[in-house]
Order: sequence, then C-alpha cells, then structure tokens
Amino acid sequence: MRVILAVMLLFTIVQVGATSVLPGPLRLAATFSRISNELDHISLGNCSLANASLPLNDTKKELPKPSTGLKLKYIALGRGTQNYSCPSSTNSHYSHETSEPVATGAAATLFDASCIASMSLTLLHEMPAAIGQAPLGSVALLGELLSVTTNSSNLIIGEHYFDAAGDPYFSLKLSGSDTWMSTKKDASTMAPKRVSRITGDNGDQDVAWLKLSSKEGHGVKEVYRVMTFEGTAPSTCAGLNDTVLVDYAAEYWFYG
Ligand SMILES: *[C@@H]1O[C@H](CO)[C@@H](O)[C@H](O)[C@H]1NC(C)=O
Ligand SMILES: *[C@@H]1O[C@H](CO)[C@@H](O)[C@H](O)[C@H]1NC(C)=O
Ligand SMILES: *[C@@H]1O[C@H](CO)[C@@H](O)[C@H](O)[C@H]1NC(C)=O
Ligand SMILES: *[C@@H]1O[C@H](CO)[C@@H](O)[C@H](O)[C@H]1NC(C)=O
Ligand SMILES: *[C@@H]1O[C@H](CO)[C@@H](O)[C@H](O)[C@H]1NC(C)=O
Ligand SMILES: *[C@@H]1O[C@H](CO)[C@@H](O)[C@H](O)[C@H]1NC(C)=O
Repeated sequence: MRVILAVMLLFTIVQVGATSVLPGPLRLAATFSRISNELDHISLGNCSLANASLPLNDTKKELPKPSTGLKLKYIALGRGTQNYSCPSSTNSHYSHETSEPVATGAAATLFDASCIASMSLTLLHEMPAAIGQAPLGSVALLGELLSVTTNSSNLIIGEHYFDAAGDPYFSLKLSGSDTWMSTKKDASTMAPKRVSRITGDNGDQDVAWLKLSSKEGHGVKEVYRVMTFEGTAPSTCAGLNDTVLVDYAAEYWFYG
C-alpha cells in the first residue's frame, strides 16, 4: 500500500517537473526512493503531534497564534473544491463574461495527516500539492483503501463544507470522536509563493491561509487552513459555467 501511495505521489511529481538540478531520471529516482523510504517508516494514522508547529512565519502578514491554553489536536489534509458562482449566462452574455466569480462555499474530505506530520513536516507540506493534483476520486478511494488494508484507524477522519447558515463547518466524527464545529473567519493572509514546494514557484492560484474559530461545536475551538494548493477562481467568468468548482488541497490544523 505504501508503494501505491508513493507511486501516486511520484506520478503527480512527474507531471510537474521539479526545479531540481539533477537530470530527470535521477531526480525521479531520488524522489521516489525518498518518498517511499519516508513512508516505510511511518504508520498511517493516529500519531503524536507533540512536536508539530504551525508554519505561521511563512506568510508576510502572519496569522495570529492559537489562543493560549489550546492544544493541537488534529492535523488533516483536505482535498476538495472551492465553489464559486457566475451570473447566469442566459440572462446577459456581456455581464457573465466580465463579472468576477463569487465564492459560495467549499467541500473537502479530511484525511488524517498526524503520522506524516510527526514523521516529517517537510513531507507533510509537500502533500497538498501532491494530492491536489491527483484526481478527486482517486484520492478518496486511495484513502479508504489505505485505511482498510493497513487496519489503521480510518484515514478519512472528517469532512469540511458550508452549513445551512453559510458558515464553514468541520466534522471530524469519522475519526471516532464527537468532534465538530461551525466557524467564523478570524484572520486571513495571502498564500506565500510556493518556492520550496514540489510544484514550482507560483502561489498566485492558492487560496488564502486562514484562521477560523468556533461559533459552535465540540472538541475543537480553532482551525488553521495553511499550505494551500490552488482553489482560486479565474479572475472573470469568461468561458465558465454558472457554477464553478475549483480543485484545491490544504492542511488543516485543529486546536482545542
Ligand atoms: C490512538 O492512539 C492512542 C494512544 O496511542 C490510543 O489510545 C487510541 O485508542 C488510538 N485511537 C485510534 C482511533 O486508534
Ligand atoms: C519531540 O522532540 C523531542 C526533542 O527533540 C523528543 O525528545 C521527543 O521524543 C519528540 N516527541 C515525539 C512524540 O516525537
Ligand atoms: C519560523 O518558525 C519556526 C518554528 O516555528 C522556526 O524554527 C524558524 O526559525 C522561523 N523562521 C523564521 C524565518 O523566523
Ligand atoms: C461545493 O461543491 C461540492 C462539490 O465539490 C458540493 O458537494 C457542495 O455541495 C458545494 N457546496 C457549496 C456550498 O456550494
Ligand atoms: C485489525 O484490528 C483489529 C482491532 O484492532 C484486530 O482485532 C484485528 O486482528 C486486526 N486485523 C489485522 C489483519 O491486523
Ligand atoms: C460546464 O458544464 C458542462 C456540463 O455540466 C461541462 O461539461 C463543462 O465541462 C463545464 N465547463 C467548464 C468550463 O467547467
């Protein structure tokens, strides 16, 4: 199973051509053996987060630190879509073409990343780009497959979507605990350019990093969305449908 995950990562890395100085084949071999080596030494779920720290100083304007007294409880990788709407194209062609897409929500599956995080934060930070480029269906399928075959606790620990009130909602009930919250946005900062990450050097398409806090919930109080990969809509609605789903991935750090 680890081999499958490594192959998937490799596959996505091949597509993007990393900025390494090694010649192609050597670079691939190095990447493959590094990723499969790293994965060989970890179990896949439910690891200690004692030594993980948020990469808050990666952004120019830093997000506020977690509130005092809160502890890091989960690190999840989220993979899904950021949703936008464009004015109905049947109404007025002109206004559709020149309007900006409006954010309407998001939906993502949350995967347990605690073991990857406890093993290597560097590897963790490469994951959003890797899973962000793998097709949505294959990522979810792989997560389930890995969970079942490794007999680890479920790797899919939750989901993220917008609730009926339009608030970002997180459920971690699939982790086996009664953990959930609906949230409000406390702070937002532009995603940094992706210099050191596997997909090159441009972070312009990456959705903002956020700090959200609980309006209502149980087990967690704050969550950060960091290391975002894509998810931004094109600047105008030209050529887009009325509903626009833009694939994205990110790390979610939960405190409670
Ligand atoms: C996670 O690990 C802790 C301590 O190692 C254990 O008590 C707990 O039952 C585990 N949870 C799951 C869902 O495996
Ligand atoms: C955290 O780091 C300390 C110091 O480097 C180390 O002794 C400890 O074993 C680490 N804990 C875990 C859970 O990795
Ligand atoms: C960023 O924070 C990490 C620990 O959170 C620290 O090790 C690192 O030196 C900091 N980097 C800068 C440029 O301040
Ligand atoms: C966003 O898109 C997803 C499909 O990825 C859909 O399941 C979800 O209902 C949408 N949510 C909103 C608020 O538009
Ligand atoms: C899977 O886990 C369960 C409960 O922890 C255990 O009883 C079972 O023997 C495990 N199966 C395998 C194949 O390891
Ligand atoms: C618009 O929607 C149609 C039908 O659902 C789909 O086939 C097409 O790929 C969409 N176009 C874009 C740009 O998303």
